[in-house]
Amino acid sequence: MNRIFSGIQPTGNLHLGNYLGAIRNWVKLQRDYECIFCIVDLHAITVPQEPAALRAATREVTAAYIASGIDAEACTIFNQSTVPGHSELSWIFSCITPLGWLNRMTQFKEKAGKQRDNAGLGLYAYPVLMAADILLYKGTHVPVGEDQKQHLELARDIAGAFNRRYGVEYFPLPEPQIFGTATRVMSLRDGTKKMSKSDASEFSRLNLTDGADAIADKIRKAKTDPHPLPEAAEGLAGRPEAENLLGIYAALTDKTLEATVAEFAGAQFSTFKGALSDVAVAVLGPIGAEMKRLMDDPGYVDGVLRRGAEKAGTMAARHLREVQDLVGFLRP
Ligand code: TRP
Repeated sequence: MNRIFSGIQPTGNLHLGNYLGAIRNWVKLQRDYECIFCIVDLHAITVPQEPAALRAATREVTAAYIASGIDAEACTIFNQSTVPGHSELSWIFSCITPLGWLNRMTQFKEKAGKQRDNAGLGLYAYPVLMAADILLYKGTHVPVGEDQKQHLELARDIAGAFNRRYGVEYFPLPEPQIFGTATRVMSLRDGTKKMSKSDASEFSRLNLTDGADAIADKIRKAKTDPHPLPEAAEGLAGRPEAENLLGIYAALTDKTLEATVAEFAGAQFSTFKGALSDVAVAVLGPIGAEMKRLMDDPGYVDGVLRRGAEKAGTMAARHLREVQDLVGFLRP
């Protein structure tokens, strides 16, 4: 049985990077796998969140999943906090995870910065919760961005540690599914930085709910360099902005980077940006419009999440009982 688990944190604006790097790939995978797509609100509170904003963002991510083409009937869509098993399994995993494994996590080092002693325990334990997310459903495949690869390796290590500790083959070792380089979307203001919801500049990203005018405006103002576009992909070396914009075009049109470079060989940025705007509006426009429609109907969105929580909760409870038995917790 192949089962996918993946999730996005409900923390602020969803942007093109979330779409090309995650959601769009999930839409394709749902045909071939049993899929569980989570809105990971427990992960979101590893850094401070405004309660009302967290609730709104949870609905927004759900709307993005549905608007992008994830089938809410065939897949399970739910928010993490509705299934208490995530926290419970996370605790059990905490007890078999050596600190040394967590100390290697580069994302914690980056997020905690120099203020390590002020970082919360939750931020540190974040990858253990992520392992629990996947393994609570015995997930076998996990589509994630390159930046989550290390966390996935830890999830495999934790699954192995559990199996060894209890002398069982209970948890599968989940496989990462990392998608191509074209899905690494960089900031429109700086081709060396990832497109991010926390960037202070709105002009650094295309939000999924941006209208056609905003999309065109942001692409027009996107950073470039003074040269025409290269004749071949090798000519992109040292030109991060050109590479990023061509990569976005390639991803949006489902072409290779090489084919896209050939299409615009020698063109001025202004010409290319017009074409990029058109495809960005064509792809993002309908998704953004559908998201807005769904966000105006929170009753529908909450209904999807409620049904998802029920489906997820049933499977989670069954697995958790098996784990409790293996660990030796008495269920009187
Ligand atoms: N850590 C992931 C991210 O920030 C989100 C996440 C939480 C996740 N739990 C997960 C992704 C389980 C895949 C599987 O992108």
